[in-house]
Amino acid sequence: MSRTRRRTMAVTVTLIILILVLPGCNQKTKRIENTLRVSVVTYTHDDPFINATVDELKEELKKRETEERKIITSVRSADNDQKAQNEIVEEMIDAGCDILCVNLVDRTDPTTIIRLARQHDIPVIFFNREPVPEDLSQWNQLYYVGCEAKQSGEMQGEIAADYIKNHPEVDRNQDGRIQYILLEGEAGHQDAISRTDSSVKTLIEQGINLEKLSYLFADWNRGQAENRMNQIISQYGTEVEMVISNNDEMALGAIEAYKDAGYNRQEWPIIFGIDGLEDALEAIQNGTMQGTVYNDKEDQAEEMARLAVDIYDGKNQEVQSLQEEKYYVSQYRKVDISNVEDFIK
Ligand code: BGC
Repeated sequence: MSRTRRRTMAVTVTLIILILVLPGCNQKTKRIENTLRVSVVTYTHDDPFINATVDELKEELKKRETEERKIITSVRSADNDQKAQNEIVEEMIDAGCDILCVNLVDRTDPTTIIRLARQHDIPVIFFNREPVPEDLSQWNQLYYVGCEAKQSGEMQGEIAADYIKNHPEVDRNQDGRIQYILLEGEAGHQDAISRTDSSVKTLIEQGINLEKLSYLFADWNRGQAENRMNQIISQYGTEVEMVISNNDEMALGAIEAYKDAGYNRQEWPIIFGIDGLEDALEAIQNGTMQGTVYNDKEDQAEEMARLAVDIYDGKNQEVQSLQEEKYYVSQYRKVDISNVEDFIK
């Protein structure tokens, strides 16, 4: 065989190998005609706020189906394990998907998911657990839908301050200070850090003297909050005058603990949450909770659905209206006994 022939064969073999190997990288997933496949993955199956948001998202996507376009939504949860979530995303991509909606387990660790999505050219809408800006700027097909946590903390602080000013009996021991407990969501979650900080700051700015009895982490969870509050009740008895909670589920856990403790209602603290979940709205109506801040899941779900469809259709206006062409920030609203009716469906 001549040298030129050998060289040509070598080049051909290399090309064949490249053609066989390359589809693994930078492979654009094949679209199925007239079908938008949205794959949603949450950090756990066990979070009522997230589950309610995903239910809304499914409905919003369904509404956007037309004769010409079917929308298939699949939902999975990672058991609070980032590695497991990465694997689920890989499986969802293998099964075929056009848009990913990701509620990260660890908001500081989206690298694998971003790499996988980018390799297959699948846009990602992160929601509720916000990646840091450095991660979100890795690719122009990464979006975030959520809220500004500081706003919810400020609103919670304002509702609590108003309540205390209008109800001097909250300061049961009349020492001029409100003894309080803070129930915190989850170390490292943007909402927990910022809500705690801005809620307490706002109360102080509004002239309320506070005395912190304890800060407790209860992972956003009703059962955990109930356990922690049982311990607090056995330690402090009726000394607790206020419970500030990073979300409603934990506030509801505190209510359970007070119900079990068997105190009469004048001995209960005032209790504030965030989210506006159905059970919390009911608790405000019946007076076991004094306020919450509405975390607008309907608005967030609507925006995610709209974005998913517009990105898929290649419409740019929606994306351009986002902050920095990446962020959609939903607005919180204050809820107390004066307007709770407006939030009940
Ligand atoms: C909600 C919590 C929820 C958490 C999950 C927060 O924004 O207020 O109820 O558990 O997100 O990431």
